[in-house]
Amino acid sequence: MSEHPENLLVRSWEANADAWTTAIRTARVESRRVATDAAIVAAVLATQPQRVLDVGCGEGWLVRALAGHGIAALGIDGSALLIAHARELGGSFRVLCYDQIVADPAALNGPFTTIVCNFALLGADITLLLAALRTALTDNGRIIIQTVHPFTACGDEPYRDGWRTETFAAFGDEFRAPMPWFFRTVGSWIAALAAAGLVLDRCDEPLHPHSGRPLSLLLTCCAAPNRSEATP
Ligand SMILES: C[S@@+](CC[C@H](N)C(=O)[O-])C[C@H]1O[C@@H](n2cnc3c(N)ncnc32)[C@H](O)[C@@H]1O
Repeated sequence: MSEHPENLLVRSWEANADAWTTAIRTARVESRRVATDAAIVAAVLATQPQRVLDVGCGEGWLVRALAGHGIAALGIDGSALLIAHARELGGSFRVLCYDQIVADPAALNGPFTTIVCNFALLGADITLLLAALRTALTDNGRIIIQTVHPFTACGDEPYRDGWRTETFAAFGDEFRAPMPWFFRTVGSWIAALAAAGLVLDRCDEPLHPHSGRPLSLLLTCCAAPNRSEATP
């Protein structure tokens, strides 16, 4: 029996941790350079954060960028190697998988005023994770999700939810493992928020400065009224 895509996804990040760290630290991803890095930092700052959780923090660039603005942030990621790379440059980081958060949201040691998922929700089953993260928010806290814009990510394939594969061919030769990732439509993202007890507060669509194409979908959400007591 072939391995489930969710397991392959998590393992791909351990296999690609060194290559990913190099790609990010040498600014190899154009969309990040021209728009999406600045967009996520601005979105977090707009929430006037006191304490930030960076979910799926990778090698930790966002935690360090926020520290540069005087903001305390904790980065968590399922890849022990990526967290080791993150710690090399300083900051607060922990190895934690999403299924551990779902099983025990208290393991996050919340609450957080702002929880960020920057290109880090890649699996099919995100509702339970988002519901668990909701319980770690302060009153009036925000969850911010940035994802590759579905119109761009869709490519030539049909515009419908489903598993796809990223080979990282555009990022260099050092990537060892293809990554399964779950494509979802704009409607599917919004349905997942609602299912997790979240409401959309604001939706931004950072564009490529030259082509005008949408690079990402940036969703800022808060807990739905009367859902703050609910458990995932
Ligand atoms: C595209 S990278 C983004 C990293 C970082 N947020 C950034 O902006 O550079 C996706 C990250 O999500 C993490 N991730 C994906 N699925 C995960 C899971 N189930 N549990 C924990 N981390 C996960 C990966 O290890 C990886 O670091």
